[in-house]
Amino acid sequence: MNTDSIWKEESGKCPVFAALEKDIETEVLIIGGGITGLTLATLLNDAGIHSVLAEASHIGNGTTGMSSCHLTTQIDTQYSKVYSDFGEEITAMVARSRAEGIDFIEQLIKNKSINCDFKRVAGYQYADKPEQIADLEAEYRYAGYIDLPVELTDNTDLPIPVIKALKFDNQAVFNAQAFINGLAENLVNSKCQIFENTRVTDIREDRGIFTVTANGTTVRALKVVMATHIPLFFNVLQTLAFPYISYVIAATIEGNTPENLYWDMDEPYHYIRSTEFNGKKYLIVGGADHKVGHEEETSERFKELESYARKKFNVKSVDFKWSAEFYESADGLPFIGESPFSKNLFVATGFAGDGLVYGPLAALIINDLIQGKTNKNYDAYDSTRITIAASMADFFKENIDNVRSFVADKFGNVSEETPDNLEPGQGKILNLNGEKVAVAKDANGEVHAVSPVCTHLKCNVHYNNAEQTWDCPCHGSRFSIDGSVVYGPAVDPLEKKEIVAISENKK
Ligand SMILES: Cc1cc2nc3c(=O)[nH]c(=O)nc-3n(C[C@H](O)[C@H](O)[C@H](O)COP(=O)(O)OP(=O)(O)OC[C@H]3O[C@@H](n4cnc5c(N)ncnc54)[C@H](O)[C@@H]3O)c2cc1C
Ligand code: FES
Repeated sequence: MNTDSIWKEESGKCPVFAALEKDIETEVLIIGGGITGLTLATLLNDAGIHSVLAEASHIGNGTTGMSSCHLTTQIDTQYSKVYSDFGEEITAMVARSRAEGIDFIEQLIKNKSINCDFKRVAGYQYADKPEQIADLEAEYRYAGYIDLPVELTDNTDLPIPVIKALKFDNQAVFNAQAFINGLAENLVNSKCQIFENTRVTDIREDRGIFTVTANGTTVRALKVVMATHIPLFFNVLQTLAFPYISYVIAATIEGNTPENLYWDMDEPYHYIRSTEFNGKKYLIVGGADHKVGHEEETSERFKELESYARKKFNVKSVDFKWSAEFYESADGLPFIGESPFSKNLFVATGFAGDGLVYGPLAALIINDLIQGKTNKNYDAYDSTRITIAASMADFFKENIDNVRSFVADKFGNVSEETPDNLEPGQGKILNLNGEKVAVAKDANGEVHAVSPVCTHLKCNVHYNNAEQTWDCPCHGSRFSIDGSVVYGPAVDPLEKKEIVAISENKK
């Protein structure tokens, strides 16, 4: 199954940057070339600060290039929940900062002359089941408390029946991959040196100087920013930000594609929007989220989205299917700022499905912190906050779940099949000569065998049949079937296992 996003073709239009091959010194090292890293690199460059951006693969390799590219003031964690957990001031700060974030992106696109199909649209959160009305009305009420401009309506232009909807004006759509390509292009020959295929594998700090290892070279920096979606190595925030997968399809339909953004109130919710690609209009439908490593038959989620789309639209063909990971924070708001217990090491995580706005907001905040300035939105996202009441339920649920799956995987979850029985595209944890081995067969029938023990903190990986990857349920690390790292927080590959052991087992 091809699981490249509709925006992936754009990544071929990004300038190509060489890998780091010799030791280098810089003021700020940014790790990660997604929307957070590229926006921060742009801000630092505009402020005359020298930086190095190290990207493990290519610009847009992470979730930014696999998102659904809408920019909203509404958030996945409903405002009614944020209000009851954090109070009026912080909730208003979140709403106001998100509107400012969208304005900032729009302005940056103009200032840097980036062609990325940015367009202002309206957004509708809708109830299509009577039992959802009360929650929708509560959201309307809370939006009023924080002066977020919304309208309660039962009249939308959506070609599917809704009972009631909240209309948010001044939302936007764009092409996030084209946006970061444009930022990267503007950084060629600037004070920011970008290196692709440069995976950071170690960070040490001694008397205020960071020595970072990447590609066998070292980067010495005064400040380091982990713009890697989730902090690398062990970080306490990994116990407060939990990995989920979300799915998207793009389909051609009979009739007009909807103009605006729409999202329902199911749990997990679905969203609908449109885009144009190579002269064709596409309907985009997303959702069907679940926790990483908790489903093997992930391709079923695409079927679920297709059937959702077909119930509501006259679908002609589904031309793109893709999925990616995101991180839910324990209290519903992102963590942005200095890493807890570390000075001059910065993090930005827990964006949920709202990171195309939170990423640039994180860049604005971290840019200010690096320059010793205060940021008026910092209090809402302070990475060192302790919110026991708001975090406790999810903290215990998610971390107990990790312990449970750690124990279950160490003592069970092993298939008695042999590699020969695997179909191309299938992967299983097999018992080979008394040892657990993660075995997968690629499309050409070649068998790949690796250790199932995640190199981050030793949970066991699970197979993801849509992406044909090994995914770790604990903190979301993803590995290809040959063991190489696709996403962190892990930085080292899964240990390869001898194919001889497999042949021995077959005898
Ligand atoms: C399916 C889906 C749809 C979404 N749609 C939307 C949307 O419409 N609107 C919205 O606001 N949000 C959306 N989100 C969320 C949003 O896309 C993300 O929050 C955002 O893209 C995160 O950006 P980032 O730059 O922080 O991380 P990423 O884009 O993941 O970038 C991190 C980068 O770090 C690199 N990296 C990792 N480890 C290392 C290492 N050791 N060394 C060097 N580099 C490393 C990776 O290769 C990657 O390129 C969506 C999420 C999903 C899953
Ligand atoms: S990602 Fe942390 S143990 Fe695997």
